[in-house]
Amino acid sequence: MLSTTIEQYQRRVDAYLTQTISTLSTSDERLKAAMKQGVLQGGKRIRPFLVYAIGDMLNLDLNKLDAAAAAIECIHAYSLIHDDLPAMDDDALRRGQPTLHIAFDEATAILAGDALQSLAFDIISQDISGLGANQHLSMVQALAKASGYNGMCGGQAIDLDSTNKQIDLNKLTQLHRLKTGALIRCAVELAIIAADISQDERRHLFDFADAIGLAFQVQDDVLDITASTEELGKPQGSDTDANKSTFPKLLGLAGAQQTAHTLIQDALSALAKLPYNSQLIAEFARYIIERRV
Ligand code: IPE
Ligand code: IPE
Ligand code: MG
Ligand code: MG
Ligand code: MG
Repeated sequence: MLSTTIEQYQRRVDAYLTQTISTLSTSDERLKAAMKQGVLQGGKRIRPFLVYAIGDMLNLDLNKLDAAAAAIECIHAYSLIHDDLPAMDDDALRRGQPTLHIAFDEATAILAGDALQSLAFDIISQDISGLGANQHLSMVQALAKASGYNGMCGGQAIDLDSTNKQIDLNKLTQLHRLKTGALIRCAVELAIIAADISQDERRHLFDFADAIGLAFQVQDDVLDITASTEELGKPQGSDTDANKSTFPKLLGLAGAQQTAHTLIQDALSALAKLPYNSQLIAEFARYIIERRV
């Protein structure tokens, strides 16, 4: 059930992204090829999945969410391209392929990330039929905030600053909530914005989103140790080699796994408070800590 729906939403967002990128008038083939590799080749598409699946749970017309789903995936793809750069994590493998700065060159990788970020805001600011102007503006703003200083970029800065250093659990939690949690929360928020739900329901959904957002990065840290390079499609042990601040480093492997488990229980409790059929979303929450990739 979950894997079928994940694939269905993958196809949906991929069709939108393929169409959007293919209609960009070509000024530089090489940059376009790098953008395509960065956003279209592989990836689980969990952020678009959340936009659609939460939207579906809230009985939304999914056509209202295509732009949001595609835009958030462009931001995510850009964040990965830049994350892999020599100045950041300096990784050579992503989604089973050479990272963009290796497959192309550093300047092209930087520009592909920049262009994907701009493309995200181009996509999400285009006319969305059936969406009110205020809702639409709120979507653009939510994506901007989650991507920037108080979101992913801020988290990445703390990540770099926390490398080769011992930080406490509060700081590490803040780091993970920003670098990864913010965009995952935003995926849920984009669907919430398009829906008409009560303040209480919003609160429960945000509690759910915050819990899975943090759990997702804790599990990413766990997989850096427990999964193989082949499974991950990215270099196993990258965090250890770079002496990154991670949950397993601070709490031990079992401690990190326990933290992820507790967070998913929190997420499921928040979901259970909602008056919707949340079976699929609950399955997705469990998948976050069961996944091997
Ligand atoms: C990897 O994200 C980086 C993190 C934010 C943890 P994903 O695990 O969603 O990567 P893809 O898109 O599936 O490759
Ligand atoms: C990346 O975290 C989070 C981003 C904002 C891209 P990681 O550096 O742990 O992601 P991976 O393991 O390289 O995918
Ligand atoms: Mg990183
Ligand atoms: Mg990395
Ligand atoms: Mg990682």
